[in-house]
Amino acid sequence: MKDGAISPTPAVGAALPHDAARRHVRGTAPYIDDLPEPAGLLHAAVGLSPVAHGTLTGLDLDKVRAYTGVVAVLSAADIPGENNVGPVLKDDPILVDRAIEFHGQALFAVAADTLHAARRAARLDVATIDPLPALLTIDEALAANSHILPPQRMARGDAAGAIAKAAHRLTGSLTMGGQDHFYLEGQISLAIPTEDGGVLIYCSTQHPSEVQHLVAHALHLPDALVTVEVRRLGGGFGGKETQAAQFAALAAIFALKTKRPVKLRLDRDDDMVMTGKRHDFQVRYTVGFDEDGRIEGLDALLASRCGYSADLSGAINDRALFHIDNCYYLPHVSVESLRLKTHTVSNTAFRGFGGPQGMLAIEAVIDDIARFLGKDPQAVRAVNLYGPGRDIAPYGQVVDDDIAPRLIARLAESADYAERRAAIDRFNAASPYRKRGLALTPVKFGISFTTTFLNQAGALVHVYTDGSVQVNHGGIEMGQGLYQKIRQVTADCFGIDIDKVLATATTTGKVPNTSATAASSGADMNGKAAEAAALQIRTRLAAFAAQKFGVTAADISFNNGQVSGGGQSLPFPDLVRAAYLARISLSSTGFYATPKIHFDKETFTGRPFLYYAYGAAVAEVEVDCLTGENKLLRVDILHDCGASLNPALDKGQIEGGFIQGMGWLTMEELVWDATGRLRTHAPSTYKIPAISDTPEAFTVTLWDEANREETIHRSKAVGEPPLMLANAVFFALRDAVAATAALPGPVPLDAPATPERLLRAIQTLSGSA
Ligand code: MTE
Ligand code: MOS
Repeated sequence: MKDGAISPTPAVGAALPHDAARRHVRGTAPYIDDLPEPAGLLHAAVGLSPVAHGTLTGLDLDKVRAYTGVVAVLSAADIPGENNVGPVLKDDPILVDRAIEFHGQALFAVAADTLHAARRAARLDVATIDPLPALLTIDEALAANSHILPPQRMARGDAAGAIAKAAHRLTGSLTMGGQDHFYLEGQISLAIPTEDGGVLIYCSTQHPSEVQHLVAHALHLPDALVTVEVRRLGGGFGGKETQAAQFAALAAIFALKTKRPVKLRLDRDDDMVMTGKRHDFQVRYTVGFDEDGRIEGLDALLASRCGYSADLSGAINDRALFHIDNCYYLPHVSVESLRLKTHTVSNTAFRGFGGPQGMLAIEAVIDDIARFLGKDPQAVRAVNLYGPGRDIAPYGQVVDDDIAPRLIARLAESADYAERRAAIDRFNAASPYRKRGLALTPVKFGISFTTTFLNQAGALVHVYTDGSVQVNHGGIEMGQGLYQKIRQVTADCFGIDIDKVLATATTTGKVPNTSATAASSGADMNGKAAEAAALQIRTRLAAFAAQKFGVTAADISFNNGQVSGGGQSLPFPDLVRAAYLARISLSSTGFYATPKIHFDKETFTGRPFLYYAYGAAVAEVEVDCLTGENKLLRVDILHDCGASLNPALDKGQIEGGFIQGMGWLTMEELVWDATGRLRTHAPSTYKIPAISDTPEAFTVTLWDEANREETIHRSKAVGEPPLMLANAVFFALRDAVAATAALPGPVPLDAPATPERLLRAIQTLSGSA
């Protein structure tokens, strides 16, 4: 249990390192592929479709079976239960039966004695396919009216009327690309048959309960016979919220069929080809506004590429709608969200879950308004902020915790926004080919699952007779530091050193029926559940101690490893031992359900979020106008984590989220060719940020106010919101491009703002294209 050198009391609020930081650095933190391999292990691999759309009419599996080392082969017909792992709708086959819907879809699977044999056999060309024409892009899906889910509208007031009456009108558009999760540990499952005919699965998933449930269905077994265990992920970022189930199911089916342990670890290229990504979006809008740029009416269309199945696209596109206001009051608004079906991989959760796409849309509208009026976008942002009398979000939630105006002002001050604006104007006037750009963008991100029932969590705490403690909870550790935060919360409940508390691997066998660790709510929900469990035990111990000391339970305190009251004191382990001998239960479950939230899908109104997390960033860039190459010179971030549970971990989340968002908006580019084949399926062709892309000057400061809602120790969720701070980089690039324009006007720059796109925008604005 001894990981950190520092173990302050109280632990909550201390800047402790990640609980496995030392193991991560030394390479001794085991990921699933590092676990000792059980005797008789088979390796599995998947055979993929070579076409984007078609009908599978035959599979010559005898050829696969005959391959040296192959032990078992599966096609759709061999699945004992349901051939489906759809998380919401039943539209995700484990293996294609007849209808092929994307290039790379799983047609068959093979298990062999060696990984090499399995992967070779899976590459055999054994499918007979009648190809069909494929819809690949948003434009093609729009033209064909191809929807995976019905459109959803969010409206308030009279947008068309307000736009018609406004002093100015502007119509514009924006496209933004998708993003691969690029978790360092790819999709992997290790399935071991159990003596009762069930299966134990070590799975790299953000959602063990769902994997358990879907695998049980695929095996035609009760949930109780399937156990899913997860100690840690080498990153998830949303990419393991639903996508792990298919591979877990295949490993489990093979395990029960062969009665041997089976490991399925996807090859990196296959992982990128087979698994869903961030949704790319097309935005079209008309906005009406006054002389100052104050928005009076907004009419927008958000069209997203969902891919071949629904997956989580409904909730993701809903979240895009919930974030199209960002920090701004939109009095009259009408937004239509289209969830388009294409013959591409099924897009899925990715940090921000549609929020980044919605937020980028409104920031682009604001930027366009500012360029149209010839104003600093900062001034236009300022007049549009929520404020007194302008504090209701389009979906009806009152924005009553609005710290954005103060937070923005403080950041503008600490980052010297005004002085640097003037300095950049001077620099640009004197520099014909290198232009600098500056932007300050805010973030307001709603915290809670917008599907209300998901906002529940459980935990299990055991106190042992020597005073050491185990805590188990439903959350998944994916690098964000959740286990450490849970240990901190638990240790403080008992007033003991954090080194006395071990957080054990998440398993469906200990805490059942959990929600995905997603929506940034891992610490909010599991922290409260762990606290509830620990408090039950503490209450029992306090009553026992009160009796012993001859005081009331209210007089008992737990501090610095001592239980005290009425001038008497016992070390925590001694009290625990005495309580055990007195036959007092030292174990408890805990449960938490997020209060106050509700939402009506029909009217698209309610209070979907318990609270909002805020932040803002200032970014400064320099662009070479002859090549489009650019450099991020300086970033200043002020971010709201409420009363931080752990400022070191939270800072890590802010830095990492920001860099990942910058990757999405500036360099990560997914390219499918005309046949629907993903051409960017490895780091050689898909560029993610490197350490050298960290800005030279990078300041991250935490906002110093507690959450107004009664969350765990008044902290705020931090996992996703910082990703959207990277909008500042995108708009700083637009700002630099704007400096090349002869006349004011919107900057025609889409995301990702690659050097090519920057160059094209510069050429368009300077009339040299
Ligand atoms: N940080 C790391 N290091 N690795 C991850 O996979 N996932 C992000 C975020 N931060 C992720 C991460 C996403 S998408 C979410 S929803 C949250 O962490 C989930 O964890 P939390 O709810 O505990 O914040
Ligand atoms: Mo995060 S996209 O909610 O897993």
